[in-house]
Amino acid sequence: MAVLAGKAALVTGGSRGIGAAIVLRLASEGASVAFTYSSSSEQANSLVEKVAAAGGKAIAIKADAADQEAVRAAVRETAKQFGKIDILVNNAGIIVLGSIDEIKEADFQRILSVNVHSVFTATQEVLHHMPDGGRIVHIGSVNSERMPFVGGSVYALTKGAIFSFTKGLARDLGPRNITVNNIQPGPVDTEGNPASGPFAETLLGLMALKRYGKAEEIAGMVSYLVGPEAGYITGASLLIDGGFAA
Ligand SMILES: NC(=O)c1ccc[n+]([C@@H]2O[C@H](COP(=O)([O-])OP(=O)(O)OC[C@H]3O[C@@H](n4cnc5c(N)ncnc54)[C@H](OP(=O)(O)O)[C@@H]3O)[C@@H](O)[C@H]2O)c1
Repeated sequence: MAVLAGKAALVTGGSRGIGAAIVLRLASEGASVAFTYSSSSEQANSLVEKVAAAGGKAIAIKADAADQEAVRAAVRETAKQFGKIDILVNNAGIIVLGSIDEIKEADFQRILSVNVHSVFTATQEVLHHMPDGGRIVHIGSVNSERMPFVGGSVYALTKGAIFSFTKGLARDLGPRNITVNNIQPGPVDTEGNPASGPFAETLLGLMALKRYGKAEEIAGMVSYLVGPEAGYITGASLLIDGGFAA
């Protein structure tokens, strides 16, 4: 069912993990999808081919989210290719762990650039190309609400910023009928947080459901939020976390 036929989307950090699942899902629903990545060219190219093989359209744009001019250029390139951008998914994100006495200034600046500054930049730039009625979705984290272990303060800070930014943006963009929402996943099995990784046992011990989420489950929530049934949802931060925050 091509519910997104005729729509154009931009997904940041779309070459792997949750972002790649979002690219596949939106393309399968008929959207033309551009996505950014910073280094994984091979995975980006194979994702473009995978989408094409399934009859969809995707383009990959190399743009480091820590480089704000590159982010603006990626938005402009997407608009040039597709003529407009109906859907923006701010997904690119990194995790930097360390207790407050260990975190280095450079690491603090980098995570702020990628997880927060690039969300501001992409959103501001996209608004020049987004028709009224567009959709903006951020991929935040359950850690904006619950950070139950040592070493996650700065990551939580960035995702807390996205939680608050979502509310303010929803107010700014309501008059244009553009919705802005924030998906807050719990542990999702990706290269960034593998289900077989060193944190798995601790994380599962904190959850109501004793399993990691799948990237496709997050993509399903994005699909709902950008689809025709979700037009009355804005300013919301929605948990999809296996009961991590319950
Ligand atoms: N996995 C989880 O458990 C979990 C839970 C809650 C929230 N999240 C959030 O979900 C989002 C995606 O996480 P993930 O687990 O899918 O991560 P991932 O497996 O590490 O994949 C990250 C994606 O973002 C891209 N990326 C990373 N740094 C980038 C940069 N500086 N510029 C442009 N693209 C960049 C990567 O491509 P390159 O390698 O080419 O840079 C890749 O496509 C993040 O915002 C993360 O905070 C994840």
